[in-house]
Amino acid sequence: MKAVIPVAGLGTRLRPHTFTVPKPLLHVAGKPIIAHIIDNISSLSIEEIILVYGENGESVVDFVREYWKGTVKGVLQRELMGLGHAVYQTKDLINEKDRLLVILGDTIIEGESIKSSSLDRDFIAVKEVDDPRRFGVVELDEEGYIRGVEEKPDRPKSNLAIVGLYYFTSTGLLFEGLSYIMERDIKTKGEYQLTDALAYMLERGWRPLAVRIEGWYDCGKPETLLETNRILLGKTGSKYEIPGSLIVPPVFIEKDVEIKNSIIGPYVSIASGAMISNSIVTDSIINREAIVENISMTSSILGQKAQVKGGLRRFNVGDFSKVELG
Ligand code: G1P
Repeated sequence: MKAVIPVAGLGTRLRPHTFTVPKPLLHVAGKPIIAHIIDNISSLSIEEIILVYGENGESVVDFVREYWKGTVKGVLQRELMGLGHAVYQTKDLINEKDRLLVILGDTIIEGESIKSSSLDRDFIAVKEVDDPRRFGVVELDEEGYIRGVEEKPDRPKSNLAIVGLYYFTSTGLLFEGLSYIMERDIKTKGEYQLTDALAYMLERGWRPLAVRIEGWYDCGKPETLLETNRILLGKTGSKYEIPGSLIVPPVFIEKDVEIKNSIIGPYVSIASGAMISNSIVTDSIINREAIVENISMTSSILGQKAQVKGGLRRFNVGDFSKVELG
C-alpha cells in the first residue's frame, strides 16, 4: 500500500513558529507532528510514503527519510490550490491498482482507530463534531455507507466530519475525479477540493464505508497544539527524576536537557538542548535549545533557540503591607 501525506499547508495560524519550521515538523509530546502520524500508520504495511510538500518544505521529506525505513518520495506542490490539487500532484507515482491511504499532515489520528479499520473496503474516516460547518461532511445511507459528501457546507446534512484519513482499494476513479474537477476548474471555497473529487466518485457508484475514529487531535492553532500535547503526554508521558528539581508527570524530556532548581509539569514537552533554571513551567512545549530562566510560565510554546528570561524581584515590605503583582 502507498500513503500520500499532503504537508504543503502554510500553517498560518501557528505563526511565528511556521515562519521557520514547516508545521509537520513542529514538536508535540516529544516528537514532530509528522512523526506521530507515521508511527500511527506504521502497522498498516505501507511500502511507500509520498509527501506533497510546498516551497521550503523539503525538510519534511528529509526528516521522513531519516525517520521511516520504507521508500519515501517527495512531490513539490508549487502553488497551494487545495487538497484535491495536492493529491493530484501524485498521479504519476501511483498506479491504478495501488491501494492508497491519504492522510493529512496536520492532524494526528490515533493508531488504534486506524488499526481496527478493515482494509478490504474503501473508507473515509469520520467523527461526530458539534459544528461540522468547518469540515468536509458526509451523509450516510441506511447501511452506514457514504452516499454524499460536501465541503464545509452552510447547512450540513449530518454532524459527521471528515477527519482527514481516506482509504482506496484502487485509485482509477479517484484520479479520474481529480482530473475532472481540475480540467473543469471546479472549485469550492476557492480551492480544488478532494471532497469534490469524492463527490464525483460517489455519483459514479463508489460506495465507501464511514469509519468512526475516536482519537483525532488537531494541531492547527497554538491552543489545539497545546491541547494535543496534554492528551498525548497523558497517554505516553514518562516519569523523570532530576536532583534539585521537581518533575510533575506527565512530561516528556528529551536527552541533553539541562534543568536546575525548577518545577516542571504537568504537561510539558522539552526538546534536546533546552536549558531551564529557577523556573516553574506547566502545560508548555519547549523546543530545541530554548532557554528559560527565572520565570513562571504556563500554556506557552517556545521555538528553537528562543529565550525567555524573567527576573527575581526584591522587596522590603513592612508589617501589614499588601503587595499584589499582576
Ligand atoms: C480538510 C478537508 C476537509 C476535512 C479537514 C479535516 O480541510 O478539505 O474535508 O474535514 O481537512 O481537518 P482543511 O482543514 O484543510 O480546510
